[in-house]
Amino acid sequence: MTIHIGAQPGEIAETVLMPGDPYRAKWVAENFLTDAKLVNEVRGMLGFTGTYKGNPVTVQGSGMGMPSLSIYVNELIRDFGAKTLIRIGSCGAMQDDIKLRDIILAMSATTLSTPSRGMFKEVNFAPTANFDLLQAAHIAASTKDVGIHTGGIYSSDVFYDERSDLTEQMTRHGILGVEMEAAELYILAARYKVRALAILTVSDHLITGEALPADQREQSFGDMVEIALEAGFKEPAL
Ligand code: HPA
Repeated sequence: MTIHIGAQPGEIAETVLMPGDPYRAKWVAENFLTDAKLVNEVRGMLGFTGTYKGNPVTVQGSGMGMPSLSIYVNELIRDFGAKTLIRIGSCGAMQDDIKLRDIILAMSATTLSTPSRGMFKEVNFAPTANFDLLQAAHIAASTKDVGIHTGGIYSSDVFYDERSDLTEQMTRHGILGVEMEAAELYILAARYKVRALAILTVSDHLITGEALPADQREQSFGDMVEIALEAGFKEPAL
């Protein structure tokens, strides 16, 4: 047990899927895992461990924003030995050719700030996905009937952002979408020499202003979960 995760030693798998929403963790456990068991409910941040095609896997909510994710990821890696962490979340699209429900594989995560920023002083560290996971996810995604985009995303600290000039610069520089967690996940994975990837479904569009109603999010979320589970257990392709 840690301060924020009530699981017993050995109850967390080496491969962890991390939705922001704890109820999504429950939905993933119920619909994709075999013999899933509740292993955490501290603060309602649900976590479940089960198997996928015989492989042990945990699904643990991260909460919204990098400070919350950082707490869970630190404890999962340092105290429970997590080795592969895959964020499964939603994002706002920042390019014209990306549609609602498309899936983005986040190669890098640009930020204004992260909880780790102070450590780097004047250096701008480049938070980057694990290549083997990214490649495996890309291969798994090619079997799905959904638009896939691979490239840089923006991890913001603000959902209701007043800085429209920043959004414009991100779009201009080819950033695919905005979310609020991936950069700190990539930094912690780098620090502790484990593997991380963020896979995101497009729930809203910053250019067109469209947004998916909550009841239409499930199908694309399901594709993303399958991509994450396949990627999590693939041996490197090369
Ligand atoms: N902004 C930030 N985070 C998000 C968004 C957004 O538009 N959509 C989903 N997560």
